[in-house]
Amino acid sequence: MNKIAVIGAGVMGAGIAAHVANAGIPVVLLDIVPGGAAKAVERMIRADPAPFMHRIFARRVTTGDLGTELALVADCDWIIEAIVEKPEAKRALYEQLQAVRKPGSILSSNTSTIPLAALTDDAPWAADFLITHFFNPPRYMRLLELVTGPATRADAVASVTQVADHALGKTVIPCKDRPGFIANRIGGQWIQSAINNAMDLGLTIEEADAVMGSPLGIPRTGVFGLLDLVGIDLMPHIAASMKASLPADDAYVAAMRDQPLIVRLIGEGRIGRKGGKGGFYTRTKGADGASEKFAIDLGTGKDRPTERAVLESLAAGKRDIVALVSHPDRGGRYARAVLLDTLGYAAALVPEVADDIAAVDAAMRLGYNWRWGPFELIDRIGPARFAAMLREAGHPVPPLLDTVGEGRFYRETDGVAEVMQLDGRHAPIVRPDGVLLLADIKRRGKPMEKTAGASLWDIGDGVACLEFHTKMNAIDPDVLATVGKAIALGKKGAFKALVIHNEAENFSVGAHLGLALFAANIAAWGEIESMIEQGQKAFAALRAAPFPVVGAPSGMALGGGCEVLLHCDAIEAHAETYIGLVEVGVGVIPGWGGCAAMLRRWTEAKGAPRGPMPPVAKAFEMISTATVAKSAHEARDWMLLRPADGITMNRDRLLAAAKARALAMVEGYAPPEPKPLRLPGPSGRAALMMAVDGAVALGRATPHDVTVCGHLATALTGGPRADITEDVTDDQVRKLEREAFMALLRTDPTLARVEHMLDTGRALRN
Ligand code: NAI
Repeated sequence: MNKIAVIGAGVMGAGIAAHVANAGIPVVLLDIVPGGAAKAVERMIRADPAPFMHRIFARRVTTGDLGTELALVADCDWIIEAIVEKPEAKRALYEQLQAVRKPGSILSSNTSTIPLAALTDDAPWAADFLITHFFNPPRYMRLLELVTGPATRADAVASVTQVADHALGKTVIPCKDRPGFIANRIGGQWIQSAINNAMDLGLTIEEADAVMGSPLGIPRTGVFGLLDLVGIDLMPHIAASMKASLPADDAYVAAMRDQPLIVRLIGEGRIGRKGGKGGFYTRTKGADGASEKFAIDLGTGKDRPTERAVLESLAAGKRDIVALVSHPDRGGRYARAVLLDTLGYAAALVPEVADDIAAVDAAMRLGYNWRWGPFELIDRIGPARFAAMLREAGHPVPPLLDTVGEGRFYRETDGVAEVMQLDGRHAPIVRPDGVLLLADIKRRGKPMEKTAGASLWDIGDGVACLEFHTKMNAIDPDVLATVGKAIALGKKGAFKALVIHNEAENFSVGAHLGLALFAANIAAWGEIESMIEQGQKAFAALRAAPFPVVGAPSGMALGGGCEVLLHCDAIEAHAETYIGLVEVGVGVIPGWGGCAAMLRRWTEAKGAPRGPMPPVAKAFEMISTATVAKSAHEARDWMLLRPADGITMNRDRLLAAAKARALAMVEGYAPPEPKPLRLPGPSGRAALMMAVDGAVALGRATPHDVTVCGHLATALTGGPRADITEDVTDDQVRKLEREAFMALLRTDPTLARVEHMLDTGRALRN
C-alpha cells in the first residue's frame, strides 16, 4: 500500500495515523472540525507516551478538513474510518466517500461495537469493507481485531492483514461479527464482574486490585486502577452499547446493574488520570509538597488515605492460582467469584465470537495485557476442577468444558504445542510464515550450552541464538561466561552465525547492580575489576569472532544490555526497543567497551563531521545525559543503530528477521579490522568540561554529575597523554573505562546512587 487515509482525528484516528506514519507509509488524516486534524498532530508531537516513534514522522501525515478536502483520499489504497460511534454518521461518511475513493480501495471502520452488518447490508461498498479494530494506544497495543462480512473481497482481507502484520506490527485476530468482538466482550464483562464482586464481598479497592492484578497475570492496575487509566467515563458507554446489541439473557447483560458511585464520579468530572481530578485513586500534594494518595471507600464513597492490601490469600496466590481461588478469605472468594464469571463466560463464547481458542487467549493477552488468556487460566486451575467449581456455585457449565473433560486446552506432543479444537481433538498451533519463536524451539529440544544466566539454542540453518534468562536479564558473570562458551563453540564450527535475542519483556536492563553493590560493600575491589575485565573481554571477543553476530533486542536494552549490542556486527531491532547507556544514572560510566564502541561508531559514521572532536562530543552528549532512545528509530539519531541495521515492526517476526540478516552475512564474512582511533586528549577534555560547567550554572548538573562527567570525559578523550597525532586502540580506551569505573565505584555518592536504583528503580540526583 502506497498511501492510507484515516478519517476522524480523535483519540483513535490520530493515533492510528501516527502509527501508519511510524510504518513509513504516507497518511492523510481528516476531521470534520476545521483545523482539528492539524491540531491533533501538533498535540501528538508533544504527547507522552509518544504516538510517533520519531517526531520527524509527523511529516508523513497530511492533514485536512473533511468538508473541503475529502478529495485527499482519492489516491489512498486503504481508508480507515475512526469517527463517532454512530452508525448513521458512519454510513453517511461512506456514502460521501463513494464519490471520491479510487476503485479497488479498501474501506474499514475502527468501530468497537457496531456490527459490520449494520454498516454494510447491501451498500455499494460492502465488497471493499471490513472492520479493523485497533486498541488504545494504537502504537503500543499489539492487537488488531478483524471482522469481515460475507461480501468482503478476499484480496482486501489479505492486503489489510499483510500491512497490519508486517508494516504496523500487529497480531491480526479474525473475529466473528458479534458485538464487542473478542477482547472487549470478555474484558467488559470482566471489569463489570470485578466491580460488582468487590462491592458485594466488601473489599477495598486496593485489595481488589491486588487480587485482580499480578497473582492472575493481569497488569498491576487490576480493575479500579485500569478504569482510572482508560477513563471511568468509558464504562457506561460500553455497557450501554453492549446492552443494546446483546440479548438480554447474555450473562454479561444480565449481570449489569446501576452503579451510583460511578455515575457520581463521572458527574464530578472524576473520570481518572486524563481528567486531572483523580478517579478511584486520587493524588494530591500535601502542605509539605509531598504527594499523598487517596482511595475511595466503596462502602461510604468517601476518600481515605490508601492502605496496602494485606490478605492471606494474596500470600497464598503468589505460589499458585489454585491456592488463591480456594482460599476462604475475602480475597480468595473474590478471585473465585470473578474468575468463575469471566472464564466461564469466555468459555461459553467459543464458537460464538471465534472458533479458535488460541485466538481468544491471544486477544486477551494483546488487548488487555494479560499474561495468560482465559483458556490458559482455566488450564492453570485445571479444566475439570474449574467445571466442578462452576457446578458447585450453581453456574452453567459451558459445553467446551465438557469437551475438554479431564484434559487440558493446551498440551505438548513431541515438543510441539497443541491446542484443542472445537471437536475436542488437539492440533498443532501453526505460526504464520516468517514467524519464528524461541519458545517453540525451546520446547523441541535441549540447549547447546547453558548456565544459570543464559542458554545457547540451535535455531536451524546453522544459526545459534544466545538467550539471556536472569531476572530482568541483568548481565552477571554467568551470562558473560555463556558468551565466552558460545564463541568457543562457534569457533569450533558448531554454528556459522549467532543471534543474541530473548523473548522477555526487556532484552536486558544492564549489569547486575546488586552484585556490584554487594562486592563494593565488602570492598571486594579485585572481584569487581575482574568482572569488568571479563565483560570487556567477552564483548570484544564477540566483535572479533570469526562469524557474524546479530543483536535482536526488544524492550529495554540499557547499560550493559546496550553494550552487548554495540559489539554485534549488525542489529535487527524490534521497533519498540528502548536503548541507551544509562550508567551515569548510577554514578559510573559504561565499562564494558561502551565508550570505545560509541567513539568508533561516530568516527566511522558516513557523512559525520571530520576530526577527532565531533565523535567525542556526540558520545559525551549521549552518555553524560543517560539518554535513552524511545524507539529503534530514535536510536538511529544516536548511532546506537547504524543506517544498515534493521527495524522489525512485528515482535513475532524479530527472530526470523535477525536470523535472515545473520545468514546473509555468512558468506565471505571477516570480523571488522581493529582500526585505531584518534582522540583529542586534555584539550578535548577541557572543552567537554566547559559544557558541564554550563549545565551546573543552569542547575542541570549536580556536584556528583561533575565528578562522573570528569571521568567520562577523560575516557572519551583518550586520557591525559592522548594527542590527535597519535593512534589510540580500543584496548587503551577500555583500560580508561575500567579505571574510571573503579574510581567512581569507590565514591560514596556513586554507592548511594546504586543503592537508590536497586531500592526504587529510579536514579538518585545527588
Ligand atoms: P473521539 O471522540 O476521540 O474522536 C472522534 C473524532 O471524529 C473527533 O475528532 C470528531 O471531531 C471526529 N468526527 C466526528 N464525527 C465526524 C464525522 N461525521 N466526520 C468526520 N469526523 C468526525 O473518538 P475515538 O475514541 O477516537 O473513537 C473513534 C472510533 O474508534 C469509534 O468508532 C470508537 O468506537 C472506536 N474505538 C475507540 C477506542 C477508544 O479507546 N477510544 C478503542 C477502539 C475503537
